[in-house]
Amino acid sequence: MTDTTSADTTVLVCGAGAMGRQIAMLAALGGYETRLYDVAPEQLDIALDDLRTIMARRVAKQRNTAEEAEAAFARLAVCDDLAEAAADADAVIEAVVERLDVKRELFAKLGELVPEEAVLATNSSSIVSSKLADVVPNPERLCNLHFFNPPLVLTLVELVRGPHTSSSTIERFSAIADRMGRTTVLLEKEIFGFVVNRVLRAIFDEAIALHEAGIASIEDIDTAVTAGLNHPIGPFALLDLTGIDVNYHIKALEAEELGDPAAGPSRTLTELYEAGRLGRKSGQGFYDYRAEGER
Ligand SMILES: NC(=O)c1ccc[n+]([C@@H]2O[C@H](COP(=O)([O-])OP(=O)(O)OC[C@H]3O[C@@H](n4cnc5c(N)ncnc54)[C@H](O)[C@@H]3O)[C@@H](O)[C@H]2O)c1
Repeated sequence: MTDTTSADTTVLVCGAGAMGRQIAMLAALGGYETRLYDVAPEQLDIALDDLRTIMARRVAKQRNTAEEAEAAFARLAVCDDLAEAAADADAVIEAVVERLDVKRELFAKLGELVPEEAVLATNSSSIVSSKLADVVPNPERLCNLHFFNPPLVLTLVELVRGPHTSSSTIERFSAIADRMGRTTVLLEKEIFGFVVNRVLRAIFDEAIALHEAGIASIEDIDTAVTAGLNHPIGPFALLDLTGIDVNYHIKALEAEELGDPAAGPSRTLTELYEAGRLGRKSGQGFYDYRAEGER
């Protein structure tokens, strides 16, 4: 593959959900001609409305100028026809639902529709690009590029090299992330959870283990982490915020991926999950949120 790092001008984002729409906005703000594709046309209207609201807020808070926002919207086109959206893409970032079968089908189609030189990345949080490599012709152009939610606010991306990924692909996505104003960390090997979620999960696991061993209360463990480590939020408050169910499923998936039942959900997490105490969204998790504005 020739080095086309500086020549990339057009980015296609597949999936206009919570992540895809903001990733597309970042690409447009970075100066790329950007196509945002979704299989559900109504999602494209919702995404554009949402982006208008978000960008108006960002302009009001002086995070972007009105001119930057307008220029970015002028570079952003939504499209529900994949062949049309993919025809001149230099780079594709996939952010569709977290289902391997859906992603494999999409990447197989992309393999046929994008120019041969285009590079391809998945924003998946748990599916490494190796699981997609066999459906893509020339898998050296495939890798993971993992954004954080919400992408317009959290500046990190994890760029993950699969065994099939070429250095040129890494360089091109690195340059794209740079122009999107993101800070990139490069993972030289694929691993479940990448870096951020592995570190976070280690903190969650230790906090829960300390609590289960009767060492300290959940309030005191949260206080230890906020006041002692300067984290903005303690692990139990964060588990409640992100959702007990989400964390339960991630741990179950981790145990499956690692082939290690011990890596599965802890006793406490399982009890809360089975009791429907899913965190803030259900009113109760590790903490009780039912009294308005209180924890
Ligand atoms: N939400 C997060 O916090 C977060 C963070 C990092 C990474 N991710 C990853 O980003 C991806 C998307 O997550 P999300 O939260 O934006 O999901 P979402 O449910 O908000 O959006 C998914 C979108 O994909 C569309 N879609 C489904 N099948 C499609 C197809 N075949 N072609 C095109 N579009 C299709 C849906 O219509 C929907 O608009 C997932 O892989 C997820 O693991 C999510």
